[in-house]
Amino acid sequence: MLRTSAHRFLVAAALAGTLAACSGEAASDGAEAAKPAGEAPPVIKERHDNFEEIGDAFKAVRGELEKDAPDFTLIAAKANDINARAMKIETHFPAGTSTADGFKTEALPAIWEKPEEFKAAATKLVDESAKLATLAAGGDKAAVGAQAMAMGGACKGCHDQFRLDDKK
Ligand code: HEC
Repeated sequence: MLRTSAHRFLVAAALAGTLAACSGEAASDGAEAAKPAGEAPPVIKERHDNFEEIGDAFKAVRGELEKDAPDFTLIAAKANDINARAMKIETHFPAGTSTADGFKTEALPAIWEKPEEFKAAATKLVDESAKLATLAAGGDKAAVGAQAMAMGGACKGCHDQFRLDDKK
C-alpha cells in the first residue's frame, strides 16, 4: 500500500517536471534580431495552434493521472488527438520559417539543418502517443503514468534540440 502511493507520488512529481519542461510557458516573443521577411506565412500560426492543442491535451492527460480514478477513456482520446497532431508536425516546417527568417517563431534553424533528426523526433511522438492510447484502454494507472512520462520525453527531446528556449 505504502509502496503504491509512494510510487504514485513519484509518477505525479516526475510528470509535473516533464510538463513544465515542455509546456508553452516559454516567452512567446521568439523572434530574434533578424529582419522581418514580409508577412508571416499562415503555416506558422497553424503549427503554433497545433502545438498549443498538443500542450493542452497533454495537460489534460496529466490532470487525469493526478486523480484517484482517472478517466482512461479521456486519456485515450487525448492520446489519439496528440497522435493525429504529431503526424502533422512534419508538414508544418517549410523552408524559410525559422527564427533566422525574422518571424515570430521558436523554430530553430536546426530543424532544416538536421531534417532526419527532426523527422525522427516527430515520429517518436507519433509512436509514444500511440502507445499511450493503447495502454489507456487497459486502464492500468501505473503503466499509463509511465507511458505519459515517456511521451513527455518525446516533447522534451525535440524541444531541447529544435525549439528556441529564450529563458536560457
Ligand atoms: C518534432 C519536434 C517536436 C515535438 C515532438 C514536440 N514539439 Fe512542441 N514545439 C516544437 C517546435 C519546433 C516548437 C516551436 C514552433 C514555433 O514557434 O513555430 C514547439 C512549440 C511548442 C509549444 C508552444 C506553441 C508555439 O508554437 O509557440 C507547445 C505548448 C509545445 N510545443 C508543446 C509540446 C508538447 C506537450 C509536446 C509533446 C506531447 C511537444 N510539444 C512535442 C517541436 C516539437
